[in-house]
Amino acid sequence: MLVIFLLSLAFLLLLSSIFFSALFISSAWSVMVKNEAPFVPLGKEALEAVVEHLGLGERSVFFDLGCGDGRILLAVAKKYPGAEFIGVERSLLPFLLAKTRTFFWGRGRNIKVVRKNIFEIDPSSATHIFCYLFPEQTKKLLPRLQQNLRPGTKVIVCDFCFSEKDPDQVIDLSALAAPWSLKHKLYIYNF
Ligand SMILES: C[S@@+](CC[C@H](N)C(=O)[O-])C[C@H]1O[C@@H](n2cnc3c(N)ncnc32)[C@H](O)[C@@H]1O
Repeated sequence: MLVIFLLSLAFLLLLSSIFFSALFISSAWSVMVKNEAPFVPLGKEALEAVVEHLGLGERSVFFDLGCGDGRILLAVAKKYPGAEFIGVERSLLPFLLAKTRTFFWGRGRNIKVVRKNIFEIDPSSATHIFCYLFPEQTKKLLPRLQQNLRPGTKVIVCDFCFSEKDPDQVIDLSALAAPWSLKHKLYIYNF
């Protein structure tokens, strides 16, 4: 019995170390080769602030552009169950995590996760958008959003704001962060 337990434990440890090594390699690849934001999930305080400031309604359509493991989709869907949620993620491992998490914990909610490049999707149905990307990516995203979003769409950008558009509101979350964690700012735009 003990042998079976130890073997299962060793197997689980092996699987998780393979998974985390693959995640690390794919993040390094995103940064160094593709110059794209790697999978860096938002911490609890920032997550709560995003949920609070989004202010969705029953018929809202929320997009997380680069949704990582789907934590924002789940947190927002928990607070605003009647809305529609779309996560766009192109890296395989975060995408699989988001799919799995939303399958188990997002049941009964209208959540869809798609494996696509954020620059190749049509965001025109969005009423609310969140993104936490690299500065070059937010810069490239702005004209696409300006062309495609309906007036009144609310966009929250974490840390790397649009260089060519002034935010309507800036929320500094650094006072809420633990000393060892990343200090975030949220930039809120009304298009
Ligand atoms: C900093 S993480 C943020 C994850 C999540 N939004 C959160 O705040 O917890 C950025 C995510 O965007 C994804 N990403 C970066 N560039 C992308 C692109 N062009 N298309 C789709 N996803 C992208 C990355 O794979 C990564 O998971």
